[in-house]
Amino acid sequence: MDFHCMDYRASVAQGPALSQVNADALVLVLTPEQSVTGDPALDSLIKDAVSAGDLTLKAGRTLYVHRPNGAKVTRVLLVVSGDDSAKSFKAAVLKGVAALKDLGVAHMAVAGALGLNLSCEHAHSLVLAVAEGTYVFRQTKPSAPKPVALKKVTVLCGPDELSAAKSALVRARGVAEGISLARELGNLPGNYCTPTHLANEARQIGKNFKHVKVEVLDRPALEKLKMGSFLSVTNGSAQPPKFIILRYQGASAAQAPVVLVGKGITFDTGGISLKPGAGMDEMKYDMGGAASVLGTFRAIAELQPKVNVVGLIPTCENMPSGTATKPGDVVTSMSGQTIEILNTDAEGRLILCDALTYAERFKPAVVVDIATLTGACVVALGHQHSGLFSSDDDLAQALLRAGQQAQDTAWRMPMDEEYGESLKSNFADLANVGGRDGGAITAAVFLSKFAKAYRWAHLDIAGSAWKSGAAKGGTGRPVGLLTQFILGQAEAGQDALKPQVVKAVGKTKAAPARKAAARRVA
Ligand code: BES
Ligand code: MN
Ligand code: ZN
Repeated sequence: MDFHCMDYRASVAQGPALSQVNADALVLVLTPEQSVTGDPALDSLIKDAVSAGDLTLKAGRTLYVHRPNGAKVTRVLLVVSGDDSAKSFKAAVLKGVAALKDLGVAHMAVAGALGLNLSCEHAHSLVLAVAEGTYVFRQTKPSAPKPVALKKVTVLCGPDELSAAKSALVRARGVAEGISLARELGNLPGNYCTPTHLANEARQIGKNFKHVKVEVLDRPALEKLKMGSFLSVTNGSAQPPKFIILRYQGASAAQAPVVLVGKGITFDTGGISLKPGAGMDEMKYDMGGAASVLGTFRAIAELQPKVNVVGLIPTCENMPSGTATKPGDVVTSMSGQTIEILNTDAEGRLILCDALTYAERFKPAVVVDIATLTGACVVALGHQHSGLFSSDDDLAQALLRAGQQAQDTAWRMPMDEEYGESLKSNFADLANVGGRDGGAITAAVFLSKFAKAYRWAHLDIAGSAWKSGAAKGGTGRPVGLLTQFILGQAEAGQDALKPQVVKAVGKTKAAPARKAAARRVA
């Protein structure tokens, strides 16, 4: 998939040079505290607009001025940001892009008022905002307005910030491309975005980037691996299931990889435990975890951090039919643990658990799974934060920090063993659902039963992967968080998050998983 190729630049311009900048439009970001630029033409314009009541110095306000007096730049857009943070700056630039994108602006320059020193974080925000604001889904709607005239964006900064801004632009551009890919895949309807389509998208990344290798396992291979839990979800579907394996090698082969596991349900009807009709179309987004893994691979393949990463994507449809799995059916997972399927709509955990067992063979440094797993997570956290579950404090902190840096935040949820009580079954080792209460947590505890052999965290992105309503569309989250996390791992070197030397308690706890592994070898 090719995206609109935007040219991002950084150059030095301050004070009186601002209004003389060589661009089609200047977006000037002010704050309620700071509305002076040091440029006489711009400053008199701002003063006049404020005293005339045309510009209020409140977050989100904008004023467009055509051919301002004394300026060389033909268009000036004043935008008021809430404060000087990178986050508010992103919102301000989004406003700017919205106001200019239907004009004949090919080259947009962006500057801050005095005191709003545009740093590398601002440059990062700028790229994310431009990519977000100019994104249009066209694959099944060719009549959608074509991407805008905008071709070039320049961040204007001080001489001390220039080199940091330049490298931030390169990095952010890679991240933005990953986000756009995840958005595009999420938005693609279920009849286009099948498991086979996701596999082909993965193969395409493998073709385009020499450090990425892709392998796709088909049904016979999954049967051979005894992925009975994953396979039970695909029983009702005419679309063949796929298990996608991506490998990015940026460090020595001996270095333990970060493993990302993404839920790839290309459509979730609920199966025999059929979902109600209202809003069911949004279950095309149930492959958001898979999309975020592909988007992250796209980003790191371009940015080439010195780290090894494996991506695992179990992908299939969840459909009702005469051959579908029924409530009460018991299946045997790859780990050897049996599962009573009390609700066929709790299918995400059923495909993830076999992928988590498969992950053991990579002897991972850490495993992070990403899934649109539970409606309960949306009830708990809304759409602001992704839900983060891990009993590993260092790993949880690293992921939370990455989310903050990337403006793609997560919120840590509890995961005490006791929540697992409700997963007891009279007919299997585990039931696939607990009660309604704490549903996001019991889902995480279910997964934890398959993730004992390594350091592990789970991201429930049910509330963050897409938006409903008039702005319905994929968000590309949490590609920003994941990419930031991986870049951070690479920068910290191979000691950052080592594979755990099995802890004293871990020893007994990991035993069932290892026994199961031994069974498989035997
Ligand atoms: N894909 C859904 C989760 C979901 C629902 C995400 C709504 C976003 C919005 C998942 O497969 C599911 O159906 N979960 C059930 C679990 C329940 C049966 C225990 C849910 O959340 O209702
Ligand atoms: Mn479901
Ligand atoms: Zn689902």
